Amino acid sequence: MKLLLINIKELLQVREPAPAKLSGTDMRTLPTIQNAWLLLNNKVIEDYGTMDHPPVGNFSQIIDCTGRLVLPTWCDSHSHIVFAGNREQEFVDRINGLSYQEIAEKGGGILNSAQKLQETSEKELFDQSALRLEEVMYQGTGALEIKSGYGLTPEAELKMLRVAKKLAKKFPIAIKTTFLGAHALPTKYKNDKDGYLDLICEEMLPQVAAEGLADYIDIFCEEGYFSVADTHRILTEGKKYSLIPKIHVNQFNAIGGVAAGVEHKALSVDHLELITDQDIEALKGSDTMPVALPGCSYFLSIPYTPGRRIIDAGLPLALATDFNPGSSPSGNMNFVVATACIKMKLTPEEAINAATLNGAYAMGLEKTHGSITRGKAASVIITEEIPSYGYLPYAFGSNCINQVILNGRII
Ligand code: NIG
Ligand code: FE
Repeated sequence: MKLLLINIKELLQVREPAPAKLSGTDMRTLPTIQNAWLLLNNKVIEDYGTMDHPPVGNFSQIIDCTGRLVLPTWCDSHSHIVFAGNREQEFVDRINGLSYQEIAEKGGGILNSAQKLQETSEKELFDQSALRLEEVMYQGTGALEIKSGYGLTPEAELKMLRVAKKLAKKFPIAIKTTFLGAHALPTKYKNDKDGYLDLICEEMLPQVAAEGLADYIDIFCEEGYFSVADTHRILTEGKKYSLIPKIHVNQFNAIGGVAAGVEHKALSVDHLELITDQDIEALKGSDTMPVALPGCSYFLSIPYTPGRRIIDAGLPLALATDFNPGSSPSGNMNFVVATACIKMKLTPEEAINAATLNGAYAMGLEKTHGSITRGKAASVIITEEIPSYGYLPYAFGSNCINQVILNGRII
């Protein structure tokens, strides 16, 4: 199956060879080819060039992209897309004056989602999650990381990860999975945090590993949730099963978790709504990707991750949705890219780099996703007829996507 795209007004993010990630001033450049063609051969990008030298041969299908841009699909390296029900009531409670933390202290928040998920069958959980997954695919996401963490019992955590694995089998989107047993303290262990950490280490982790359900290990390192010492323990334990750390850190308080993540060679440190000079220093020279989640800042009205400061310090930055029922009930990467430009003062080039190549790095998919590179996955977005790529974040409320192709399949 050879699919040829012709008359592409501008082909974005063309890199040969593609770097693993982009940092600092390198993020300002977005290489493109104007008036281009792109040839997809089954599941991979075979070749591309300018319309001055069109390819010759037989093609199964030709798509005329006159007036349209083509770019690699978004790489969303942080989501909790497998969840049950919603938290609309808490949304209204927040409008009426309660804070996210106050709601959590009253047994709402993550524990509310955990109760719903525990009461939901695996089949129902799959069906609910599949609807969301299809939605984000149509919104241009071609690679997605999915976390557990709304189970908080061995059975329910495994149920979440099995659902994520089934989604990966059924849909033509690249999926990575993360075990986040240490997301919150379940009510039963309210006064016995170490008991819950024992349960994670002695029961959950061995089963997750035995069934091959996760690539990564995560923990919510935050006041009122898990400490830096807990983070050291969980990441050390996860690494025994070859799970690579990716952590939630600095959402509300900076308590030293970033340095702990870097020390454990975390692939990414995510949230960072607050960041200290020490955090920036810890990240310098490391292979750890800072990940901003502007949808969460928008929805909770908390500070935006100082992405400008992170990039200006010479560091890389990735953007992700954090799609979850409590702090970011949207998996729309187009909105994330726009919000990063509007609220975090990233340029369109920086935001697109952060949402493609750097997102791919933050989920270990930099060799196959995140750029238009020969041999990478045939996963691309064809836009509507728009004036330029800056229009994508500019027209923040418009759907600028005309078609999405995932692994060579038009969806
Ligand atoms: O990444 N901060 C921790 N976990 C999720 C939200 C959890 C929830 O409110 O359900 C996040 O924002
Ligand atoms: Fe999250």
